[in-house]
Amino acid sequence: MGYRKSGESVGFVPTMGNLHAGHLALVDEARVRSDRVITSIFVNPTQFAPNEDYNDYPRTEAEDAKRLEAHAVDVLFLPSVDAMYGDVSSTTTVSVPYLSSILCGKSRLRHFDGVATAVTKLLNIVQPDIAVFGCKDYQQLTLVRQMVGDLAIPTQIVACDTYREKDGLAMSSRNVYLSEEQRHIAPRLYQELSRAVDMIKQRKAGFDEIGLQIKTNLEREGFELQYAEVRRQGDLHPPGESDTSLIILAAAHLGNTRLIDNIAFELT
Ligand code: PAF
Repeated sequence: MGYRKSGESVGFVPTMGNLHAGHLALVDEARVRSDRVITSIFVNPTQFAPNEDYNDYPRTEAEDAKRLEAHAVDVLFLPSVDAMYGDVSSTTTVSVPYLSSILCGKSRLRHFDGVATAVTKLLNIVQPDIAVFGCKDYQQLTLVRQMVGDLAIPTQIVACDTYREKDGLAMSSRNVYLSEEQRHIAPRLYQELSRAVDMIKQRKAGFDEIGLQIKTNLEREGFELQYAEVRRQGDLHPPGESDTSLIILAAAHLGNTRLIDNIAFELT
């Protein structure tokens, strides 16, 4: 492309498509910070387990391309699986041990190896100055940050706040799977996390107790909770006595749809 050779800075937003306002906010952030914006759409097979929704994942390339054009994206990069991996079964894998094994990594085995490998490859191909990721996938963001540091990839990782629907539901490409009734219930996840943060800040509940309360309350509504945990911001280790920058993260199924959300907060 020659952008960097001619002295222009490049911002990059990697996505799996089915773009919503949350993705477009990442694109706008890249736009503000760089001369040129490149977005990729690649539904990455290596981050889906065999029982997950790789085949059903919503693919809406034509609409996505129009939206990106309206947000002044300079290049839309659409690599094929073959171009990215050749033989998927024998490709080199990037793994970030601790961060890929906790929280979502416990139930999504190898998911984060797939993310780390795809993101490394995309960053090496695009060679951006910055790459923008959403805080909704906080574990992914944290892992990418560590990986970029560990592998000395010369890209600055920029984080954007979670984009929410009016009722608080975090925007996600997977929200299209929700039935009308489930869509009505789905914001309870964010409401429960907000309530939990208030309780913790007012020292009305300990971390383990709050996790149990969230489980009880959400399961009463029809969710199946995978985890709700308080961790340290930045490295996602369990918090120690003196840690004050914390984050509560949760994953839950509503029917067949897996929802994740989190809220970062400070203890004062
Ligand atoms: O968040 C996503 O859409 C994907 O995990 C990513 C970062 C594009 C890697 O495939």
